[in-house]
Amino acid sequence: MRGFHPSLAAFEPLPVQERLFVHARLFSAPLEALAARAKGRRLADLGCGHGVLTALLAVGFPEREVVGLDPDARKIDWARRSVGRFPNVRLEVGTVHELAAKEPGRFDCLFVADVLYLLPPFEWGAFLAACRALLVPGGRLVIKEAENDGSWRAKTALWQEQVMVRLLRRTRESGALGFEPRETLHRELEKTGFSVRESASMHRGYTTPHVLFVAECA
Ligand SMILES: C[S@@+](CC[C@H](N)C(=O)[O-])C[C@H]1O[C@@H](n2cnc3c(N)ncnc32)[C@H](O)[C@@H]1O
Repeated sequence: MRGFHPSLAAFEPLPVQERLFVHARLFSAPLEALAARAKGRRLADLGCGHGVLTALLAVGFPEREVVGLDPDARKIDWARRSVGRFPNVRLEVGTVHELAAKEPGRFDCLFVADVLYLLPPFEWGAFLAACRALLVPGGRLVIKEAENDGSWRAKTALWQEQVMVRLLRRTRESGALGFEPRETLHRELEKTGFSVRESASMHRGYTTPHVLFVAECA
């Protein structure tokens, strides 16, 4: 059943509230579809939060090295106490720019799930350029965002995010909170030197207008 993937056993050491949060996260976003697009051995989950996607990428794949990165130390603490106990996972507090300065050209594949909506769109180019710097030639970037398609889904999802970010303060924003049309991300990816291989709506069965991009270094 959606939301009960075996990798979620990694989160059993966490308090019940955090466990419920990670189950809800997997139930409400197509993270398994992202994980299915992994390529290569060295992977990173940028803006990993509690590490739900990190767990999908690492648990059961001992041949992979998975780095989870987030600027929010609280989130990395939850991730360290759960998926961080696996030997093929490394968790770091920091920004994508800091990681790109330390480990350029290290990764075969990067994942960015629901992070860009927390940044002003004028900063997306610099974020994507840092992603490009982290990747090997021909490396892959898998992104999931919610798209502003003017639908009831977009309005409902934005309202939910405002509650999570501004009222409950469960998620840390980076200067913005809003969804953009799908074309904005497509354009920024191409401008940064990525070739978009796949762009697909993933909203069926969800209340959020999920959109998935798979791009590779041109
Ligand atoms: C909605 S959560 C998504 C977490 C995780 N990617 C997932 O799919 O479950 C957004 C995450 O982005 C992180 N974040 C905020 N600003 C960021 C930035 N500038 N760079 C990287 N991550 C950021 C937040 O701390 C938060 O953990």
